[in-house]
Amino acid sequence: MMLERLPILKDDGLITPEVGLWAEYKYRLVWNYAKMFAASMKAKWDARIYIDLYAGAGRSRIENTKTIVPASPLLAMDIPNKFDKYIFCENDKEKVQALKARIGRDYSDSNVSFIEADVNKNIEEVISNIPRHHKGFKVLTFCFVDPFNVRNLNFQTIKKLAEKYIDFLILIPSGMDANRNISYYIDESSTAVEDFTGASQWRDEWRLKGARWENFGLFFADLFGRQMRTLTYFYEGLADMVHVRSTEKNLPLYHLAFFSRNELGRKFWKEARKYSDDQLDLL
Ligand SMILES: C[S@@+](CC[C@H](N)C(=O)[O-])C[C@H]1O[C@@H](n2cnc3c(N)ncnc32)[C@H](O)[C@@H]1O
Repeated sequence: MMLERLPILKDDGLITPEVGLWAEYKYRLVWNYAKMFAASMKAKWDARIYIDLYAGAGRSRIENTKTIVPASPLLAMDIPNKFDKYIFCENDKEKVQALKARIGRDYSDSNVSFIEADVNKNIEEVISNIPRHHKGFKVLTFCFVDPFNVRNLNFQTIKKLAEKYIDFLILIPSGMDANRNISYYIDESSTAVEDFTGASQWRDEWRLKGARWENFGLFFADLFGRQMRTLTYFYEGLADMVHVRSTEKNLPLYHLAFFSRNELGRKFWKEARKYSDDQLDLL
């Protein structure tokens, strides 16, 4: 696979949220994985589906610069062997409108469903848009899960999707939220950590074994990984995940974790990491 630079776009006047420079890595990873997944699964599956649960507006501006790049939904379309269907969920009306306009303009030939709603309350609608897998028609889905913070995701959402043949790339906001706001999350009145990880006993575990961890963010990411094991996904430890740090101050931001039940998926993930790791080039 060729290492490609992210395309740099001209301002189209529609909403373009700002992201840190570190987002380049996330974008390259999802792009590279989508390329490999869509190409190599083409012959083996009758339908390949891409889901972006937190789709955004389709473009981002790198903060403190004028550089505009395609964000995850448009990167997943900018690939040689397009997915057979795209499902985008986003709860911000203006972003959904911008995403629709951009796709209508640049990718009108793609099969796309838009769900303008809170994904955790409307996961059944997302699922109803996945073509039905049956004998003679095999459906495989790749789902990107890119929340802002711990409060945005409910593990039940992942659990319901996991009833399908589906691989996940999940951003776990370990440093930028879980660890930074530990005093808020640790408070008995907060259900956010349990909601995100689906682990009801996490406070007991943190109390007993917390000292073994460098910080709460690492414990949180590992807890999530272990919970994915209960859904029969491979997870061997934090080394399976990419730990992304801020470009300027090297502060821990989040973990990017790939979950598959399939050895081939894990092989692609390793490849995508290798290609995305190479020198970043937006600045
Ligand atoms: C980090 S951004 C991700 C954007 C996109 N994936 C990208 O590549 O730039 C998170 C997005 O999720 C949306 N969002 C937050 N909570 C949500 C929820 N519960 N349901 C649906 N969308 C949500 C936000 O409006 C925001 O656009």
